[in-house]
Amino acid sequence: MTDLDQLKTDALTQIENAPDAAALEALRIEFLGKQGSISGLMKTLGKMAPEERQVQGPLLNGLRSATADAIAARKEAFENEELEARLASETLDLTLPAPDVPQGSVHPVSQVMDELAEIFADLGFSVATGPEIEDDWHNFTALNMAETHPARAMHDTFYFLQDRADQTLDNAPNTRMLLRTHTSPVQIRSLVEHGAPIRIIAPGRVYRSDSDATHTPMFHQVEGLVIDRAIHLGHLKWTLETFLKAFFEREDIVLRLRPSYFPFTEPSVEVDVGWQDVDGRRVLGGDGDAPGHGWMELLGSGMVNRRVIAFAGLDPDEWQGFAFGVGVDRLAMLKYGMDDLRAFFDGDRRWLSHYGFSPFDQPTLSAGVGARA
Ligand code: DAH
Repeated sequence: MTDLDQLKTDALTQIENAPDAAALEALRIEFLGKQGSISGLMKTLGKMAPEERQVQGPLLNGLRSATADAIAARKEAFENEELEARLASETLDLTLPAPDVPQGSVHPVSQVMDELAEIFADLGFSVATGPEIEDDWHNFTALNMAETHPARAMHDTFYFLQDRADQTLDNAPNTRMLLRTHTSPVQIRSLVEHGAPIRIIAPGRVYRSDSDATHTPMFHQVEGLVIDRAIHLGHLKWTLETFLKAFFEREDIVLRLRPSYFPFTEPSVEVDVGWQDVDGRRVLGGDGDAPGHGWMELLGSGMVNRRVIAFAGLDPDEWQGFAFGVGVDRLAMLKYGMDDLRAFFDGDRRWLSHYGFSPFDQPTLSAGVGARA
């Protein structure tokens, strides 16, 4: 055997026996590194006589590539081993039993919003959203509440300071930013973006500087909007009746429409729902005028004011429709029997596990929008 053959056999044996990737890397440097033994041999080629180089050149090149190939193959083997080991250690045993106590639940507000989306989707409504940080124009002006409109005072608005340093409010009308006080600005945004005809509900968070057992600084509303060519109050009443019957899952829901005032609707109606006394509890359903019955104010609505339609860029002589707004938390309290709104946002796990829903309890019209697992 020539020296080169011997060298090759030695190198390949050592590579084959390298215990791990680090040892292999050390061998690579030993043979093929800048100062490596094989690299050193390669350098001698330059000094050889041409005839000798013709013989030695292919031999040395063969040695170098055989060594490099062996190192690469061994390296790949180490990598595969490592991957196999990782896959083996990271196995997930899907046969493990679920925890005894369910972890987490769907908040009643989320559940009710899903119920609303389900009910209104069946009536051809889609779900629209808008920003919670809103500008004055969308929140007020375009809803027919000009700068000096007294209705603005009722909203206890959180305004943003113009800039943190000077601590002053931006008083430029329309560009001043605020936390939206209602979901009604989504009416404007949806009309501007999609035009008419349109049928949407817009559920979401709203903010007012107010706090007691029935008011929290953040709460939830759902806005409804229908604009088309010949929509009238009858459509509004039928839609609300159909919605409330489906939501409360009772056929005997009776509505009373009372004349009211909102700047963004004309005429405006306040909607009351009949309730009856059942063992000292007020249960929705039945004619509120019957003995032992009463009316509960539930939501605001009306025919969209012509000025609002014009603000949204549509011709009020061509388009008309209705809108309504209702508190989602209030709907949840009435349906599921909570009495303190503040508990909704305390994050108390006892409350959440009592009033929360299973994620599997998806509201569907066929299975009942409020079915509890
Ligand atoms: N935006 C009103 C509020 O927050 C609720 C409301 C009343 C919305 C009447 C409407 C409506 O769309 O027509 O108090």
